[in-house]
Amino acid sequence: MTNLREAAYMIAAILFIVGVMRLRNPATARSGNLTAAVGMVIAVAFTLIGAPITNVILLLATAIVGAVIGAYSARSVRMTAMPQMVAVFNGMGGGAAALIALAEALHALAHASYPGLSEAVPGLFDMLVGSVSFTGSVIAFLKLQEWITGRPKSFRGQNIVNAILLVLLVLVGVAVLIVPTPSTKLLLDWILIVGSMVLGVSIVMPVGGADMPVIIALLNAFTGIAAAAAGFVLQNDVLIVAGALVGSSGTILTLIMSRAMNRSIFNVLFSAFGATVTATGSSERGEIHPTNAEEVSMLCAYAQRVVIVPGYGLAVARAQQECKDLMDALVARGVDVRFAIHPVAGRMPGHMNVLLAEANVPYDRLYDMEDINPEFERTDVVLVIGANDVVNPDARENPGSPIYGMPILNVDRAKTVIVNKRSMASGFAGIDNPLFFLPNTMMYFGDAKGALQQLLLALKEAA
Ligand code: TAP
Repeated sequence: MTNLREAAYMIAAILFIVGVMRLRNPATARSGNLTAAVGMVIAVAFTLIGAPITNVILLLATAIVGAVIGAYSARSVRMTAMPQMVAVFNGMGGGAAALIALAEALHALAHASYPGLSEAVPGLFDMLVGSVSFTGSVIAFLKLQEWITGRPKSFRGQNIVNAILLVLLVLVGVAVLIVPTPSTKLLLDWILIVGSMVLGVSIVMPVGGADMPVIIALLNAFTGIAAAAAGFVLQNDVLIVAGALVGSSGTILTLIMSRAMNRSIFNVLFSAFGATVTATGSSERGEIHPTNAEEVSMLCAYAQRVVIVPGYGLAVARAQQECKDLMDALVARGVDVRFAIHPVAGRMPGHMNVLLAEANVPYDRLYDMEDINPEFERTDVVLVIGANDVVNPDARENPGSPIYGMPILNVDRAKTVIVNKRSMASGFAGIDNPLFFLPNTMMYFGDAKGALQQLLLALKEAA
């Protein structure tokens, strides 16, 4: 049975890896998800086979409750609320990893002993990292759900306090290994867990709400590492592989997101972006040129190439279907329509790709920043829908701007730029955008959904 289980775990691990590989492309992502899910079913099934019947009943009962809650929330969640759902799921993983280590310690204590060094060290690591990830994710969820303020909340010297707390927790862990009595070890375990939970809160509170996706990716990496450590505690290979995959992909995602915003992870964690940044962008303002649906429809209908730039506002307005309808209407008129996707447009990785895929926009119309940027000079009309920071030329030209150096979509180089948003309000970075005042830019004010519907109507009437 043990050999069979090991073989099943190996197959599950391979399925996880193939699944993650398939997630790299939108066309194969769904099947990748399913492949990894099959791997997980195999891993769970072979863990249950041969287990005491009461354990099987308990595990199946909790798995069913978890599956129902998970399936319901995944199906009903709005795309803009996806980061907080990931935060909740992630927090559960971190908390579970810490509980596994605690359960093992309690189990050993029932026999008046404590796990040996090879299990105790990963177990202690698990308690620390898993607990940080649990409470950090809870705070991230509360901020994103706006149940607590999303603004950075910190006190003077908080980073130093956090560093001291971390050192103390490591010392508690070392003490667990040194003290002889199992009951004292267990008491120290509890201190380690509670202290780590405080640390998780204290690390995430100073981070601004809009930086939360980066923190969630980082906490996700923590959870993966904690799960891998839990695999060492339980001597379970598949848990080690799955944890390592989550840990490494979470780390890579964190780095990609930080790089796309041209900020270091250190800066995200410790700079309280959003609290300190005010309107320090370009100060020369000029005239804006407001426009309307009829004028925009004329410009688009007689253009050879139109590039649509979706942003956070499109997601908030849930206007992806209208975007697709606009694409269809223009393509029917022979216009070359493309979508320009900035890596951090929106509020979570791949936000725009997922939204547009929901509305069945073909993948071959989606262009990455590197591919579309050289094309803007040959573009007649760029339609910016609810995007702001990712098209701010200050990032390229104004060394005084807080987002200077962040790679942007060079929409200002197109012949005509039409920006749809509701007002002159700033985006996530809280800074002015000189794009709105350029002579080749027109402002098409209104909620993205309504504005696109009006545009579609005007296009129909013009036909
Ligand atoms: P933002 O710069 O946040 O701008 C979004 C714009 O949408 C706002 O200026 C807002 O202006 C407009 N808007 C809001 N609701 C709207 C609606 N219903 N209809 C039409 N417009 C609406 O968005 P972006 O350009 O997508 O840039 C993303 C920002 O988030 C970047 O600064 C990025 O660094 C940051 N960020 C992204 C991520 C990831 S992973 N994607 C993670 C962390 C941070 P009005 O209020 O005037 O309408």
